[in-house]
Amino acid sequence: MLTGKCIVIGITGGIAAYKTPDLVSRLVKTGADVHVVMTEAATRFITPLTLQTISRNPVTTGMFETPEKWEVKHISLADRADLLAVVPATANIIGKVSAGIADDILSTVIMATKAPVLFVPAMNVHMYENPVFQSNLKKLASYGCRFLEPDVGGLACGYEGKGRLPGLDIIFEEIAGLVSKSGDFSGKTFLITAGPTREYLDPVRFLSNGSTGKMGYAIAGAARSRGARVILVSGPVNIPAPQGVEHIPVLSARDMFAAVKEHYQEADIIVKAAAVADYSPKESFANKMKKGPGDLEVIFERTPDILHYLGENKGKQVLVGFAAETDNVVENAIKKITAKNLDLIVANDITQRGAGFGTDTNIVKLIYKDGHMEQIDKMAKEEVAHRILDRLIAVF
Ligand code: CTP
Repeated sequence: MLTGKCIVIGITGGIAAYKTPDLVSRLVKTGADVHVVMTEAATRFITPLTLQTISRNPVTTGMFETPEKWEVKHISLADRADLLAVVPATANIIGKVSAGIADDILSTVIMATKAPVLFVPAMNVHMYENPVFQSNLKKLASYGCRFLEPDVGGLACGYEGKGRLPGLDIIFEEIAGLVSKSGDFSGKTFLITAGPTREYLDPVRFLSNGSTGKMGYAIAGAARSRGARVILVSGPVNIPAPQGVEHIPVLSARDMFAAVKEHYQEADIIVKAAAVADYSPKESFANKMKKGPGDLEVIFERTPDILHYLGENKGKQVLVGFAAETDNVVENAIKKITAKNLDLIVANDITQRGAGFGTDTNIVKLIYKDGHMEQIDKMAKEEVAHRILDRLIAVF
């Protein structure tokens, strides 16, 4: 399954490093070309000679080792990798990478690679729960890095809690899955809309909604990391666009419609995760409105239904809509599939804890045009994004 795939395993300085040779051995047995990069601290727990013998490749431990043949080591490993997995990943490496620090061979390879990066953290429970560490995890996840959750149990430091390296079977499966997915959307173009729109009444006042763009951005990051070209048309949000996507910022529903019309014919897959305003003030004032003594009446007019337009005009494209509902989730979503000629709708009940606007997790139902339905339980929006892509790949 992994024959010919280049997997770079980074090892950092945690006691769980003693388990990594077993993982490397399993990967080598499946035919993968495994290259190990160790931090200085990792070499205190396990020797490079062990890893070299098992991986059958030289182990890299320093930036300035003299290579056997001429190459810039951190770049050649970063370029060659189909996947980079850091096992175990300490709070230190995750903190460094999330801050953009590249001061040793491993952090440098991570910074320089375009391959998917998987971190498998293992550490003391209090370190794992530390809010600084958790915010670093979230930041890296928002850039498309993948994580495996540690197991709960007895820790080497004597504590009980979350922080154990997950079982090697789980890590192996995750690596194998990621390697086989890496590049599965190459040659495909996604057009993704995300975030809210703003409908301005005057230069300072607007009607909008609470969409933060997280779900659409997670899909954009996931599609990019799996080799797709991604055009991301986004309303105003506070998160950075994933690396490598073509980002088109817009404000109003009309702007979004114009951008979508310009690009939809280039796309193979269109995902409309944006929360588009259905109404916009009929009149918008060039200068700031002054208050008057009485009530203010504003007339709103309908905005163009972008998804409806796409459903009517689509050719070969796979069209994915979103439905954020507070009641009759499934019935409403099914109506939208028909009304807007969709292939798939991602429906969520925004009244559920852990679903909808602003949360880091989502709970969704995938409903297909043939009526069949699939529940995706609560999980990180990045994971939901990959699940959606896994289903989309089946369409091709
Ligand atoms: N959508 C769109 N253009 C609009 C409004 C919504 O493209 N002007 C898209 C959204 O991006 C989303 C889907 O349509 O993919 C949501 O469906 P919609 O029927 O518009 O949902 P609501 O706006 O919640 O409308 P309703 O009041 O009918 O439930």
